[in-house]
Amino acid sequence: MSIFDIPVMQGYIRMCRDGWEQNWHERNGGNLTYRLTEAEAKQLSPYFRTPGSWVNMGVKAENLAGEYFIATGSGKYFRNVDLAPQDNLCIVEINEAGDSYRIVWGLEKGGRPTSEFPSHFMNHSVRKAATGGENRVIYHAHPANVIAMTYVLPLTDKAFSRALWQSATECPVVFPGGVGVVKWMVPGGADIALATCKLMEKYDAAVWAHHGLFVSGPDFDTAFGLMHTIEKAAQIYMLVQSSGKPVLQTIFDDDLRAIARDFGVTLREEFLEK
Ligand code: 13P
Ligand code: ZN
Repeated sequence: MSIFDIPVMQGYIRMCRDGWEQNWHERNGGNLTYRLTEAEAKQLSPYFRTPGSWVNMGVKAENLAGEYFIATGSGKYFRNVDLAPQDNLCIVEINEAGDSYRIVWGLEKGGRPTSEFPSHFMNHSVRKAATGGENRVIYHAHPANVIAMTYVLPLTDKAFSRALWQSATECPVVFPGGVGVVKWMVPGGADIALATCKLMEKYDAAVWAHHGLFVSGPDFDTAFGLMHTIEKAAQIYMLVQSSGKPVLQTIFDDDLRAIARDFGVTLREEFLEK
């Protein structure tokens, strides 16, 4: 028995490999965090080492005090995760104030959690509150077509949500709330964390202009599926845009309403035309 026989570890590592295979993680691009359940933390704890020292995060979330997260390491490559998870991932514990972490497992050759940990952490806090504790996954990737869209569309929630909904029939069902858009910002800091959080109170996905996509979900399948669905729609959008042919037809607003009605989802009406 090793820590890698525990299902949550296997699910996490599989998601890293799947993201790499989708070509969303050039070099060290992207990062993934998972908030462990109490039972999972207990199951993993026999493999924990004497913890490192507390590291202040510069952000604070009281509703995450005492929680444990699995995180990718800063500068580590998704491509390498399944070859040596213990060198590329870590498990961190959050202190009672909800403002510092310490490493209890992994990063055996040194390192620290992803540079986007403040963003992930604050978004976990917001999504935990918004979903009554259901949300556990925050995932950031660099999918090429979503990034390409940020050069040709106005950087508004409405423009992106509509373009994506109209690009594939399943989209309004998978993300009926739409997506948020963060204008270009320096990555890794508290500012982008706070801007993303504001959007994640309403949405479960946020586009980072000229950078990538941030998604959340209750489990690995749902979060990965959301990233995949949005990027696939973005690919269709960009294929249409670059085909050189005029758009002769699309999914119109009343079609979107019909999908919502039949699938029992509520679309963000403010994004639809009368
Ligand atoms: P990290 O290697 O620190 O996770 O950074 C990668 C990234 O995508 C930054 O936005
Ligand atoms: Zn990034």
